[in-house]
Amino acid sequence: MRSGELRVFVNEKPVSVTRGATVRDAVEVFDRELAGLLVSGAAHATDGVGRPVDASDPVGEGGAIFRVVVTARQGPPRLSKDLLRRWPKAELHVHLDGCLRPQTMLDLARSQGIRLPADTPEALARALSVQGSRSLEEYLAKYEITLSVMQTAQALERIAYEFVVDAAAENVRYVEVRYSPALHRPALTLTEAVEAPLRGLGRAAAETGTKTGLVVCGIRTLPPSVSLELARVAVDYKDAGVVGFDLAGAERGHPAREHRAAFEYAARHGLGCTCHAGEGDGPDSIHQALHDCGAQRIGHGTRLGEDAGLLEAVVERKIPLEMCLISNLHTRTVASLAEHPFKRYLERGVRVTLNTDSRLMDGVSLTDEYFHAHAGLGLGKEALAGVVLNACESAFLPEYEKVALVARVQSELEAL
Ligand code: ADE
Ligand code: ZN
Repeated sequence: MRSGELRVFVNEKPVSVTRGATVRDAVEVFDRELAGLLVSGAAHATDGVGRPVDASDPVGEGGAIFRVVVTARQGPPRLSKDLLRRWPKAELHVHLDGCLRPQTMLDLARSQGIRLPADTPEALARALSVQGSRSLEEYLAKYEITLSVMQTAQALERIAYEFVVDAAAENVRYVEVRYSPALHRPALTLTEAVEAPLRGLGRAAAETGTKTGLVVCGIRTLPPSVSLELARVAVDYKDAGVVGFDLAGAERGHPAREHRAAFEYAARHGLGCTCHAGEGDGPDSIHQALHDCGAQRIGHGTRLGEDAGLLEAVVERKIPLEMCLISNLHTRTVASLAEHPFKRYLERGVRVTLNTDSRLMDGVSLTDEYFHAHAGLGLGKEALAGVVLNACESAFLPEYEKVALVARVQSELEAL
C-alpha cells in the first residue's frame, strides 16, 4: 500500500483509498454501481457496529468496516447529512470543554508549554475519542485533557468563539453551551472564568447571527458549597449572557439533592435550571432532579422509561429532555442505537430534543445526531422538524425572544 493510503473493508472485502476519502469513495472502489445506488438512496451503509453512515462521511481510520445493502424498501428518499446540515437547528446540551478544535488544542498546548497525548489534529482527535468507554466515569476522564489547555482567559474566549462559529456553519441558530467555572481555578477566578467565554460567545454571535446562552454547571463530585458559589456567580452574570444552571459529573453515588440550595438560588433569581440525570444512574436520579432540585429540563433522562409514573409526569409537565444519542452509546447508557428510547419517548409525547454533548470526544456534529435519529431510529422529516422546534421552545430565553426564535426557525423549515 502506498503512503497516504488506507485499507478499509466494504462488505468484507479490503479496498484501498486515500486518507480523507469518503464512504462513497470506498464503495466506488469496491463496486461502482453500488456506489451509485448508495448516492441515489437505493442502498444504505452502516459501520462496523451497525450504525448508519452517510455516503459523504469520511472513512476515518484504516481497518474501518462498512456494510452496504441494497434496499427494496419503497418510501420517501432518505434525508442526507448534507440536507440536514442545511436545516436550521437549535442545541441545548453541549459542553464547552468537549468542543475544542484539535488544532486549537495543539496551538494552546504549544503556547502554554503543555504536553498532549498526540501532536497532529487527527491523532489528537483519536486520543480524545470516548468510543470504547465502559462507563460515564471513564468517559468523563477525557475532559481532564481538554481542561488542561483551558486554564487561561484567552483560551476560554477563543474556544467559545470557535465553537459558535463551528455550530453556525451547520446552521445552528440558537445554542446553549455549558461548562463549570470551578474547573478553571486556581488559574482563574470564577468571574474571570465566566467573563472570558462570554466575550467569545458575544463576538461569535455578532459575526454569525447565531444566538447563544451560557449555562454554568455545578459538579456532583465537588462539595455542595461550590455549587452554591457557582449558582451565585451565574446569577451575577444573568443579564450578561448566562441563562442557566446545571449539575454535571459522575451521577451514581453523588445525589443531586445535596446540591438543592444551588438550584434554589439559581431559580429564585430567574435562571433556567437543568440537571444531568438518568444517564449514569436510574429514574430515582431524575426524580430528585425534578422534585428535590426543581429542574425545568433534564440532561439526557435516557432511563426515564424505567419508571412509568415518572414518564407520565414528564409528559404532563412538558419537561424537555436534552437527549444525546451518540454520547449515550459511548457512556454505555444504552447498548446500541436501535435500543435508544428517543423515538419511543417522542411518540409517547415527551418533549425530546437532540444534542451532541461533546463534539470532539463523541466525534459528532448536531447534523450527525439528526442523521442518526433519521437513519438509525427511523424518524421522518415531520418528526425531526418537530424535534428542532421542541429545542427552540425549550430554550432558556425570555418568552418574547423564544417566540421570535420559534417563528424564525419554523419559517426557515417550511421554506426548505
Ligand atoms: N460532563 C461532561 N459530559 C458529561 C456527561 N455526559 N454527563 C455528566 N457530566 C458531564
Ligand atoms: Zn452533558
